[in-house]
Amino acid sequence: MFNRRQHLTAIALAVLGTGLAQAQDTVKIGVILPMTGQQASTGRQIDAAIKLWVAQNGKKVAGKTIEVIVKDDGSIPDATRRLAQELVVNDKVVALAGFGITPSAMATAPIATQSKTPMVVMAAATSSITEASPYIVRTSFTLPQAAVALAEWSNKNGIKKVVSLVADYGPGFDAEKFFTNQVLLNSGQVMDKLRTPLRAPDFAPVLQKVRDLKPDALFVFLPSGQGAAFMKQFGERGLDKAGIRLIATGDVTDDDQLNDIGDVALGVVNAHHYSAAHPSAMNKKFVADFQAANKFRPNFMAVSGYDGMRVIYKALEASKGQGGDALLAGMKGQIFESPRGMVLIDAQTRDVVHDMYIRKVERKDGQLWNIEFDAVKGMKDPGKAK
Ligand code: DHB
Repeated sequence: MFNRRQHLTAIALAVLGTGLAQAQDTVKIGVILPMTGQQASTGRQIDAAIKLWVAQNGKKVAGKTIEVIVKDDGSIPDATRRLAQELVVNDKVVALAGFGITPSAMATAPIATQSKTPMVVMAAATSSITEASPYIVRTSFTLPQAAVALAEWSNKNGIKKVVSLVADYGPGFDAEKFFTNQVLLNSGQVMDKLRTPLRAPDFAPVLQKVRDLKPDALFVFLPSGQGAAFMKQFGERGLDKAGIRLIATGDVTDDDQLNDIGDVALGVVNAHHYSAAHPSAMNKKFVADFQAANKFRPNFMAVSGYDGMRVIYKALEASKGQGGDALLAGMKGQIFESPRGMVLIDAQTRDVVHDMYIRKVERKDGQLWNIEFDAVKGMKDPGKAK
């Protein structure tokens, strides 16, 4: 017979044992996204894509049960860092993921390094992010990729005099630098470099300036969610009628907003890694399944979230559910078909290598789409070339 003390010890051990078994059987992934605030569409898209990945691929990987924990940082970097700390220390996540804007990714990089937690950047796109921690892996894209691909196209298409307009922070600086440098290398002319604030931008003054300068083309990068407001003002102020051609990174002709923008978007040539109209069997299924689950079209954020989950699942298979350096090793060098096309996670840079498509906005079956007509194949981040 157990005495009372032995009995309590046995219960305590049993409880502890259950806890340990659960801890060993469950693998947690901590996702931090802007679900509210100005970047909320980024969070909505990536969250929906993660749910789609889990619905299609199940919750069991390497014999473990996957638990995805989603936290809203409202795209406030201090909140991102605090949430990351809590996810690592309290929830013991094996990977961090998400990161809607560059400052959020940068604020979290030291936590990834100190805790040796792989951190999958699914949205932010400033080139230098992957250099902020050896534990960062990126599945989104980089602005230098889009800017250089577009500048090459514009040079071949008679655009000589340009003005650039970018959001006034990391990815904007990259877009401006890599686009305008490429124009200068191609013996073109950069008439002005304009910037608008990340938060609550007012496009009226810069559009007036562009009108007065009369470039062949205005090159634009704005973060996901700002494209519709910008393009409407571009049209309302008659810049299209004044013969100023609008060219952009695909963030501006965002699939999330494209149908709301309307006719002013028609004919806008832009460069990006993902279009919901990408004509592959895998993408057709991805878009159909995504729309059936969500009633909205997936954009470039969604595909990066979906691919990020693929990278984490396959790495967990390779590491047999272990985190840390084993998980990171499983992420490096992955090569796979994505709804965007083929993707490589470069083992040296941990950055994404993929095709940069040149697209034109066209109407098809009553809806607006980014229709791909050219591509720079297998493009590495030009920002990494030292
Ligand atoms: C970033 C955010 C975006 O919404 C986008 O489209 C591109 C880059 C960023 O903050 O890095």
